[in-house]
Amino acid sequence: MTSRPALDLATLELDYEGFRRLAREPGLSAHEKIGFPDSYREGFEPAILADIVAKLPRLASDEGLSVVDIGPGCAALPRMLIDLCRDRRHTITLVDSPEMLALLPDVAGVTRKAPGLFPKNAAEVRAAAGRADALICYSVLHYIYVDCNLFDFVDATVALLAPGGRALIGDIPNHSKRRRFFATEGGQAFHRAFTGSTEPYVVPHDTPVPGKIDDAVLMGLMQRAQAAGCDAYLLPQPADLPMANRRDDLLLARP
Ligand SMILES: C[S@@+](CC[C@H](N)C(=O)[O-])C[C@H]1O[C@@H](n2cnc3c(N)ncnc32)[C@H](O)[C@@H]1O
Repeated sequence: MTSRPALDLATLELDYEGFRRLAREPGLSAHEKIGFPDSYREGFEPAILADIVAKLPRLASDEGLSVVDIGPGCAALPRMLIDLCRDRRHTITLVDSPEMLALLPDVAGVTRKAPGLFPKNAAEVRAAAGRADALICYSVLHYIYVDCNLFDFVDATVALLAPGGRALIGDIPNHSKRRRFFATEGGQAFHRAFTGSTEPYVVPHDTPVPGKIDDAVLMGLMQRAQAAGCDAYLLPQPADLPMANRRDDLLLARP
């Protein structure tokens, strides 16, 4: 009998279809199904949720909101969000592949599911959620970038927001921030500890970075949202989150 080679998450090129395959793959942990080795996420979710709530405070202060989670995956974070929504009498519309959504619970009066690839299914999301008071899209934007035009994503997200609504597009790998970090002594020490190598890490500059989100992409997305009537902010993550040294959060707020 031939055994299947183990999945190497570090080298997988993931997009929406790639995550569908991971969701169907037996024998993977919930973190592995969303593309993370367990060590990247295990135990960090309460701190991640606390940061999301700090940036979307109406989640904890209000009741009866329409919440949308684009790309919830199937690990602890969406389950904790569903619990919070049940406690605050919010509804939460979960937007992901049918395979991923099947791994999340259905909670009467709380969860709604809008399967499909956002923003292509924006009309279905709007039909399920109405106007959103809080929209979360955490650790997903770099995959949406593979499949879609990010300006279409911003246009569809802004169109979903209710007056006073906020969208947190969180945990975005920012290639420029990563380069800035690894150019410091702290970044070099981090690299030595991570790789076990004593060789200096030479940070490449002035080279094309196809498919990577950088400062320019993020500024462009902010200006797109601002031109459509939203305030837009680029925010840091607390230092205790696992990838805070190279990731940014983008907050869009409809006045
Ligand atoms: C890295 S996981 C993040 C899961 C979750 N937000 C978290 O942080 O625990 C990315 C998720 O986004 C979903 N996804 C990727 N592209 C998407 C798209 N265009 N529309 C909806 N979901 C998408 C994937 O299926 C996967 O579940």
